[in-house]
Amino acid sequence: MPLTEARPLLVVNCGQLLTLRGPRRPRAGKEMAELGLVRNGALLIKDRIVAMVGRGDRVCRSPDARKAVRLDARGKVVLPGFVDSHTHALFAAPRVEDYVARISGASYSQIARAGGGIRASARRMRSASERVLIERLKNVVRLFLEHGTTTAEVKSGYGLDLVQELKMLRAIRAAAEDAACELVPTLLVHEIPARYTTERARFLQLVRRRLIPRVARERLAEFFDVFCDRGFFSLAEAKELLGAAAGAGFKLKLHAEQLARTGAARMAAGLNAVSVDHLDHLSETDIRWLRGTRTIATLLPGSVLHLGSTDYPPARRLIDGKIPVALATNFNPGSSPTLNMQMILSLACSQMRMSPAEAITAATIHGAYAVGRGARVGSLELGKQADLAIMDVDDYREIPYFFGMNHCATVIKKGRVVYHKAT
Ligand code: NIG
Repeated sequence: MPLTEARPLLVVNCGQLLTLRGPRRPRAGKEMAELGLVRNGALLIKDRIVAMVGRGDRVCRSPDARKAVRLDARGKVVLPGFVDSHTHALFAAPRVEDYVARISGASYSQIARAGGGIRASARRMRSASERVLIERLKNVVRLFLEHGTTTAEVKSGYGLDLVQELKMLRAIRAAAEDAACELVPTLLVHEIPARYTTERARFLQLVRRRLIPRVARERLAEFFDVFCDRGFFSLAEAKELLGAAAGAGFKLKLHAEQLARTGAARMAAGLNAVSVDHLDHLSETDIRWLRGTRTIATLLPGSVLHLGSTDYPPARRLIDGKIPVALATNFNPGSSPTLNMQMILSLACSQMRMSPAEAITAATIHGAYAVGRGARVGSLELGKQADLAIMDVDDYREIPYFFGMNHCATVIKKGRVVYHKAT
């Protein structure tokens, strides 16, 4: 039941309170394992903001705490809400036929070339009304919250033409309006529509001259992204589009090095991209090169699992090389049909040898930096937005350890209880 905003909220009896306090910048190297853990902690929230955080006895003594509405975390783990910084959460229908084809041996690229994949999602997108899309996304938002995600990036990219891309972005905006989970919209150029396969330059021109300016004018997206990979957009094509988007005021992201090593990550980091995402085939020289930039390396192990690959991105080498790593679900109907960040933590730990602490940093404060919100969300520090989740475990390491489960018991967004598991 939502609590009133007028009275402060006091979250008490936090067995492990993971504050993620630290420097006001992405964390590098060993810093990624520092969770700012407080045992028997408490948190006071006033006007949507963290007003006090620390040991329970100290916080509870404050005059404001005495007047506050109390929420008992029952000795469980409390941490910042997850920031899922890479999703394609708005789609018209699942693609179980791709899934079954892959089980029989077809690759992601072969399915795409045969007319499945992103183009199949685009065909279904055309027959979905904006109203239906809004309802679908609102439902996804509920599920995000139930799994502890309080901020999520959502990409367009199943439209492939002006009208359909605008429809997607307007649906994202409408669903975001009264959503308890903050949505960050991204304009994604995902695939060449079938009718432009022999006229790629014309399609790029349309994107540059019509789509990008229109989306900028209507303020429908904050970020711009391209699927730059073997069989999709080339390095030169992606660079041309990223340049136009930066000129129109978008912050940049890039799908890079997922299917093959192309040099996309370096190119995007050179353009000050906020994040480069996937990185399954990143090279050693790319890692060295990324170190000198401000770009976040966002890893998406859900797609590696779902596509039946073993090419997990080199998380250990990135972290040891002092590059800030974020984790995201990449929730989409083709390569990663999960929106559960807890499952992504399990994959990060078991398959990429990240420690549970590093994975939590990657899924909270680094996710926040990957969507340009590191100063506002992603940690539970004085003055930051009170977005947090209570997990029904005694030790934070149990979150990835018990994999494929949902441990989330309660979620607070901007100081308001927005999800409470029925008992
Ligand atoms: O991030 N790689 C490109 N885009 C998605 C897949 C989207 C789809 O297949 O529908 C991804 O894996």
